[in-house]
Amino acid sequence: MKEQIENIRREIEETLSARTDMTGKELYALKMEYLGKTGKISALSKGMRDVAPEDRPAVGKLVGEVRQWAEKRFAALEEEIGRRELSAKIASEKIDVTMPAKFRETGSVHPVTLVRRELIDIFSGMGFDVFEGPEIEKDYYNFQALNIPADHPARDMQDTFFITEDFLLRSQTSSGQIRVMENKKPPIKVLSPGRVYRSDSDATHSPMFHQMEGLVVDKGITLNDLKGMLDEFARRMFTGETKVRLRPSYFPFTEPSVEVDLSCSACGGKGCRICKGTGWIEVLGAGVVNRRVLENCGIDPDVYTGFAFGMGLERIAMIKYGIGDIRLLFEGDVRFLKQFKD
Ligand code: PHE
Repeated sequence: MKEQIENIRREIEETLSARTDMTGKELYALKMEYLGKTGKISALSKGMRDVAPEDRPAVGKLVGEVRQWAEKRFAALEEEIGRRELSAKIASEKIDVTMPAKFRETGSVHPVTLVRRELIDIFSGMGFDVFEGPEIEKDYYNFQALNIPADHPARDMQDTFFITEDFLLRSQTSSGQIRVMENKKPPIKVLSPGRVYRSDSDATHSPMFHQMEGLVVDKGITLNDLKGMLDEFARRMFTGETKVRLRPSYFPFTEPSVEVDLSCSACGGKGCRICKGTGWIEVLGAGVVNRRVLENCGIDPDVYTGFAFGMGLERIAMIKYGIGDIRLLFEGDVRFLKQFKD
């Protein structure tokens, strides 16, 4: 028995010193061969039965010693191999942070969205709320309530897509004015951005485009307030030197009505290709809200007055970014779009 124990100890020692490159798994298998339930050292314990009773304490001690020795020997190796395998893993998974990154295409914000956001930012800073009305609109909101009755020649100012006799694709965000005033009493200060539709298509017109309406109604509002607000808008949207010029015009829902020009920011007003040599660029329509429009919404025109303005976002984008053809804004060509960053 004693000899058997010594043999096992030697066997383990020889195998372990011969196989220094064992993996954790191999080591475990080997350990089981000796220390597992059916392993050789466990078999020694079972063999105790056959040892003469008077020898048992001494032999039992030897078996216990070899088991302890083997357990220690394997544990030390397990730790060493574990450490070795871990550092190999770390080395193989090392990331070279100096490698150039893979190029990934990112999206950009559409210039019309950029303009829309900037306008909302500028005007909300002056206290405006935002209201978005429906694109499929009633004739009443798009025309009649805005003082454009059926058969009125002003209907021809916008070539409208009718859906039925009463419903149409809104041709202007001015419809939002009525929807706001029907539901809210003054003071009112609201922006109404959104898509509008007109049967019109060339380098400067698109059948679908975006407008932004502004409406202010309160006691004592005059055209001067409009001018002051537009001065601030022009300076913030373009340059600090941009000037605003009002020219008389006509809209059925404003009286008086004006066309608003800004001094050309490309040439500083000297006259260039963009402003066609005039030094001015027309950017929006506006005016003092017509008494009849206020009346249509149940607002007393003897107490309250207001002004309204409406501008085309594509037009603003074209001026701001020097875009020559409106169709570029709708083609979705990435080479064009990726030039605009937030
Ligand atoms: N709705 C007009 C247009 O589309 C613009 C406008 C808005 C004019 C508000 C005056 C007041 O041409």
